[in-house]
Amino acid sequence: MKWEGIIKKYKEYLPVNENTPEVTLYEGNTPLIYAKNLSEELGIELHFKYEGLNPTGSFKDRGMVMAVAKAAEEGSKVIMCASTGNTSAAAAAYAARMGMRCVVLIPSGNIALGKLAQAIIYGAEVVAIEGNFDKALELVREITEEQPITLVNSVNPYRIEGQKTAAFEVCDQLGDAPDYLVIPVGNAGNITAYWKGFKEYHQMQKSSKTPIVYGFEAEGAAAIVKNQIIEQPETIATAIRIGNPASWDGAVNAAKESNGKIDMVTDEQIIEAYQLMARREGVFAEPGSAASLAGVLQSVKDGSIPKGATVVSVLTGNGLKDPDTALKVTNYQPEVIKADKQAVLAKILG
Ligand code: F0G
Repeated sequence: MKWEGIIKKYKEYLPVNENTPEVTLYEGNTPLIYAKNLSEELGIELHFKYEGLNPTGSFKDRGMVMAVAKAAEEGSKVIMCASTGNTSAAAAAYAARMGMRCVVLIPSGNIALGKLAQAIIYGAEVVAIEGNFDKALELVREITEEQPITLVNSVNPYRIEGQKTAAFEVCDQLGDAPDYLVIPVGNAGNITAYWKGFKEYHQMQKSSKTPIVYGFEAEGAAAIVKNQIIEQPETIATAIRIGNPASWDGAVNAAKESNGKIDMVTDEQIIEAYQLMARREGVFAEPGSAASLAGVLQSVKDGSIPKGATVVSVLTGNGLKDPDTALKVTNYQPEVIKADKQAVLAKILG
């Protein structure tokens, strides 16, 4: 059957009606990739939900298509968000599609190159602030309360509604909910959305159970784990460089209700997982996404994921968004040699 995006596919589970405009960039329907090599090595059944194959390269498209459709339905002409990069790329693309203005506030110097390029090429008005994501979100919340501008960060409930569809897909692709769902946590909207989706699918008897949900923050931005706002969050994973997650309660609730946890991984663990999934499975996701695999590795090691478990690791964004980090962590420069067969053979045969 032809794929026509998440609103068409899941309309009976979403707050849409005959007045909701049809918007889609054919988001969703992303692959669940069985991680054959890592599964054997770890003694679990590991799958990647590869959200990097959405139209703008991250899971944000699922939420943004809903937020933008509802904004248009309500007559809004301008949308605005704060972003570590992916939200702004998605907002800019869907706004372009709908002929709306899009204003994005980003933390200066702390967003991946590809994401910045996306927001700009889609025609958003990009404003960089001397401050981090948390400050940007604070400003956007204040401004959108006063101005006729729609806020499209994940505090907009339609974002969560759209993003919950990824949990539906996981259940359908696997034939049931997994034993464990492991996901990176930044502003905590996505973990909130997945948990809502899993609960709803279970209630509708489309799965036999709900998964245990493990969320992973980056250690330098682990506000929920440390139970305190981090004023100056720091991590190589700029996507989740967030010190005061807006959906804090949603994350805590997902962990509590599912018998899961919110835990953290170091930048070293993130970089290790980032390279491991590329080299062992041929899957390139961005550093923020790698917090999820890093969390799986840690949990298998400490026994909080038992052998034989079915595990879905959510890979939230495409690795191509952040080429700088790929080159930086591998520190590999291709050597330039003569365009000559002997020279190439000498090089590759040693
Ligand atoms: N992974 C990636 C690639 C992200 O871009 C984000 C969030 C997350 C994980 C965390 O998801 O915030 O729902 O807990 N990025 C936001 C943005 C903040 O502005 O693009 P979350």
